[in-house]
Amino acid sequence: MTAIQYDLGSDQILTLTIDMPGQSANTMNGEFRTALSETVDRVKQDLDNIKGIVVASAKKTFFAGGDLNELHKVTRDQAKDFEDMVNGMKADMRFLETCGKPVVAAINGTALGGGLEIALACHHRVALDNDKTQLGLPEVSLGLLPGGGGTQRLPRMIGLEAAFPLLMEGKKLAPKAALKAGVIDALASSPEEMMSKAREFIEANPKAQQPWDKKGFKMPGGAPHHPAMAQKLAIAPAMLRQKTKGCYPAPERILAAAVEGAQVDFDSGSLIETRYFAELATGNVAKNMTSTFWFQLNAIKAGGSRPDGVEKETFKKVGVLGAGMMGAGIAYSTATRGVEVVLKDISVENAEKGKSYSEKLLAKKVSRGRMTEAEKDAVLSRITATDSADDLKNCDLIIEAVFEDSGLKANVTREAEPKMAANGIFASNTSTIPISQLADASAKPENFIGLHFFSPVDKMQLVEIIVGETTSDETLARAFDYVQQIGKIPIVVNDSRGFFTSRVFGTFVNEGISMLAEGIHPASIDNAGVLAGMPVGPLTISDEVTLTLMQHIRAESKKDSEAAGQTWTAHPAEAVIDVMVNTHNRKGKASGAGFYEYPEKGKKYLWPELENLFVDQEKSRNVKLQDLKDRILFIQAIETIRCLEEGVLRTVADANIGSIFGIGYAPWTGGAIQFVNQYGVRKFAERAQELTEQYGERFTPPAMLVEKAEKNEAFA
Ligand code: NAI
Repeated sequence: MTAIQYDLGSDQILTLTIDMPGQSANTMNGEFRTALSETVDRVKQDLDNIKGIVVASAKKTFFAGGDLNELHKVTRDQAKDFEDMVNGMKADMRFLETCGKPVVAAINGTALGGGLEIALACHHRVALDNDKTQLGLPEVSLGLLPGGGGTQRLPRMIGLEAAFPLLMEGKKLAPKAALKAGVIDALASSPEEMMSKAREFIEANPKAQQPWDKKGFKMPGGAPHHPAMAQKLAIAPAMLRQKTKGCYPAPERILAAAVEGAQVDFDSGSLIETRYFAELATGNVAKNMTSTFWFQLNAIKAGGSRPDGVEKETFKKVGVLGAGMMGAGIAYSTATRGVEVVLKDISVENAEKGKSYSEKLLAKKVSRGRMTEAEKDAVLSRITATDSADDLKNCDLIIEAVFEDSGLKANVTREAEPKMAANGIFASNTSTIPISQLADASAKPENFIGLHFFSPVDKMQLVEIIVGETTSDETLARAFDYVQQIGKIPIVVNDSRGFFTSRVFGTFVNEGISMLAEGIHPASIDNAGVLAGMPVGPLTISDEVTLTLMQHIRAESKKDSEAAGQTWTAHPAEAVIDVMVNTHNRKGKASGAGFYEYPEKGKKYLWPELENLFVDQEKSRNVKLQDLKDRILFIQAIETIRCLEEGVLRTVADANIGSIFGIGYAPWTGGAIQFVNQYGVRKFAERAQELTEQYGERFTPPAMLVEKAEKNEAFA
């Protein structure tokens, strides 16, 4: 069976149906390329008998895009061969485009990346009108660029400016929006209509040509040298840099490929595109992002960290204790996925207030046309707001999200647990208290587990599942099912203070604050955080989480470690936090005063007094930006290795995904462990040693790192 079926009808219309054997979706790989080149050979022979060509798909979707398995393996020293291979395939697409016969894409479903590029290479695009269909070029999200002609054809079709969001942000469009944007030419309401519209185009345009192959072609919206366009393009790289902070080469190369390509003929532009494509595909950032956002995320989604042998569960009724910020968000995220929710607080009024959070979010969706009033009412009717534990009966899962107080948590556990379904599981959303300790209050500690959500729950995709000493595999598997049922990403960690994410997050903020203790200017510190790729700097985020909470967590950790017979070594950040809170009453953003000032009107700005209290001008002038950036990324990576070493983390995939989706660890790195792998394990250990000598013991390479470095073996 060939990947492209060749049907030349008696009406002289050739239908090429892409149907990659053994795959649920079509992808661009070696097999496809061979089939394409064989197809082109046949077309050359039959050309006189062909009136026009329809490109279609036998799968549910049109075409999924490039084959990432293949792309991921290409190394730097294979870049030249890779370029030749890409150019070879593009020449085949180009042949069909310029063979003198009309070619129409019949887009029956989602067409992404290389799939949309095939359609763009056709003279006409008809798509089945289905709102679920996605059309787009998402390569940028994996650090790549559309290397199948996308950066050349799309701007020539709709103009540079209109093409940028699709190319550089990977924006996807449903067919109706794609029609409006000029990415496709027609909609069809049935497969039959789609095919007949394709034929109509062929009949009406026997000598179809792409606009850019016609004499006198002018770039829509203006070529780069057009004065209005030249003015915009002059600032485009700076605006892009503002977004990427120089961490993401892909959007920069896409901009370059599109603009440089638009100044030459199509075929030269296509070669320019291939060169940038090869550079990105063989570079570190694309490898990092593909490895984590594609392979590892898929492994997690496929249940990589879920124990085997437990039947998959679908939850029907979930109880949520505490209708505060977290409880309200958990109720919303659960009810919107079709699950009944009992939202309990100490008064009906409190519980209703928690429910009204869902109402607010849903109303926003309705006002934006993303949901109907009836759908909103259906979600709300699934949430029962109550003050009575009796309403928890038959819940298959109860999630506790009351105040962070172990006594209170024990009480609500004892009260609620007997009410739930016989084999129900009980979860705590604690952010700091060890799960094994909370499980003491449970009559069925094997059914007790941690489900650590992140705030705001409706937006944050990660849930950290914490396995206590007594938690059974079955409970873990079922908790995993719940997290997936509500469409979130589960990572699994073993019990320890701060679990994984909070622990690593703590090292990030403390490192930033300790730079202030050393006399580094606060603006340099927050800038270094952002330039390293973190979403915000460490001082900004400290203000958000509040400095008093950091003091509280420190006190608890200190108590714990002293109880375990260890001596507490003060972190250099502690003194700064104490001066801020105890001497100057600056607790953070919520109280209007932290490292930043928060004027009622206008933007926040750094508290000027920081200069007098902490800044050493000489030191600030001489500090190396690279050192600051390294400290921020290294300290978190080192703590993550410790979590692996101590068995808090079970897999590298959980480490990478958890660090990005939970903490915002620089996504260009592919996560805290991928950062180490791509840096080179041995080089990383050496640099960590240097940082230890310069900045303190906390950078000491953990034994697991030393061992890997000796063997020069990546974390896997
Ligand atoms: P919150 O203060 O907004 O809400 C707590 C709610 O629990 C209040 O509505 C309170 O009335 C209710 N409550 C107290 N006693 C109760 C009882 N006996 N029965 C039922 N409800 C009762 O607190 P928040 O921020 O929602 O935190 C809840 C839990 O989630 C805490 O354990 C916290 O550590 C954890 N957490 C918080 C995160 C955050 O970013 N705020 C992130 C992850 C976890």
